[in-house]
Amino acid sequence: MKSRARQRVLHLTAELWPYARTGGLGQAVAGLASHQAANGVDTNILLPLYREARQHAGALEPFGEPFTVVVGGRSEELRCWREAAGELPRKLFLEHDPSFDRAGIYGDTGSDYPDNHRRFALFARGAIEVARALGGDDGRLILHAHDWHAALAPVYLRRVHRDRADLQVMPCVVTVHNGGFQGAFPRSVLSELGLPEDLWAPDYMEWYGQLDFLKGGLVFADMVTTVSPTHAAELLTEVGGFGLHHVFRTLGDRLVGILNGIDLCAWDPAQDQDIVARFGPDDPAGKARCKQALQELWQLPPRPDIPLFAMSARLVAQKGMDQIVDSRSLRAVNAHFIFLGAGEAQFENALRALAAEYPDRIAVNTAFTDMLEHQLLAGADFLMMPSLYEPCGLTQMRAQRYGALPVARRVGGLADTIDDGVTGILYDAYSPAAFDGAVQRAGMLYQDRARFDALARGAMRRDFSWRQPAEQYRDVYRRAYAARAPFRRAAALPAAGGVRRVAKARTPRPRKPATKGVPRDR
Ligand code: GLC
Repeated sequence: MKSRARQRVLHLTAELWPYARTGGLGQAVAGLASHQAANGVDTNILLPLYREARQHAGALEPFGEPFTVVVGGRSEELRCWREAAGELPRKLFLEHDPSFDRAGIYGDTGSDYPDNHRRFALFARGAIEVARALGGDDGRLILHAHDWHAALAPVYLRRVHRDRADLQVMPCVVTVHNGGFQGAFPRSVLSELGLPEDLWAPDYMEWYGQLDFLKGGLVFADMVTTVSPTHAAELLTEVGGFGLHHVFRTLGDRLVGILNGIDLCAWDPAQDQDIVARFGPDDPAGKARCKQALQELWQLPPRPDIPLFAMSARLVAQKGMDQIVDSRSLRAVNAHFIFLGAGEAQFENALRALAAEYPDRIAVNTAFTDMLEHQLLAGADFLMMPSLYEPCGLTQMRAQRYGALPVARRVGGLADTIDDGVTGILYDAYSPAAFDGAVQRAGMLYQDRARFDALARGAMRRDFSWRQPAEQYRDVYRRAYAARAPFRRAAALPAAGGVRRVAKARTPRPRKPATKGVPRDR
């Protein structure tokens, strides 16, 4: 894309704040897309029209006519809607009520829906048609798929539609927010989803005897990103690559780590209306009032003199919960510990038991709200993020802006956004003892109040905006576009010859010719 040409993108995501979300994915996509839209990128986002999304969205208007896709011999009618209020970025919703008009996003009553492979395959198939409706067959629209739920879009595009020169010009970018979830299903899913049999191979989608959606997305993407430079390096290693390190290594320089940003307007302690007193690096006094209010709200005794450690996260293994519940710190250190968020029953129960045992020091609330998180970060001295792995992490950036120093493991985006001993405390080993050591360091730092306050003010000044990340995505989009150049030339040629060249140009070669009679869609 010439540097002056306006970039265009269609984000495909299973979560989008505030319409539907369970974790950071929805916030990261919303943040990136908003920044792009405000900076001249023609930005579109497509997500499934879940029941929850319908409730949160404003009035919807049709975007094009209903259309049919054939997936594994079954025809399904889909329809795309757009939020009428028209605020940028453009929000599009893919309707298929049998799949998405349900109580949950991925499941309800504690387990995944048994047809998630089909639900997200339909999403990916439908997304290609939406991209065409947006004019994507001119080659200027980037299809940007996030995580495994959207990863079949490049697979359908490059394999099922491989003979359609108009679609081969469309550049694809895949972003890995959490490689711990790959969408792995039984082999039989391949034919159920109308995918050619030769994709069942280690070079394509087979993964330890299962069909792996994310792997397919990685194999067929023009560019792959993940959400921090350190995590990009971790993905290449056997311990950090979630069993896909060979695939990540094969990508070479087509794998790029780009940090997420945070929304500096939504997370600004000098403007925040959710907290009792506003503050900032040049005027930090309000923070003490926020701490007092927080202790009151969580029914802890008013103690300005002891450190307050907070955690706001899904209470799951990835977030390092087993180190916390086994730590000495919670049982013995003279400090307050506050936990906000829901998760696995074992961790919720363990924390509740600790809170019952130490009601003056430990408090838990599993009913997460955004407002509670604002108040938590405003009142906390430290934020605990002892993650097992953390591709990026968002809360540690917000916490620094609110003068709460992160106490975190040196992994992924935590290593990239926390300056050990300057804006927070990093530690290495994954063990309750190592966590205790870090809490102890934090406690000592807190005793030197002048130093602690100076570090907190420095943390508040750190720049975690989307400005630089968005520039890096711009560059990734340019490279994805460049990778499609042979296909653009081919598409301009008469169909037969053109298509033949398309196949030679870049798409990973299948071992067998494309399945004849692959269903075409309107
Ligand atoms: C996932 C990752 C988290 C990241 C977020 C947004 O939730 O676990 O580290 O910040 O996605 O990219």
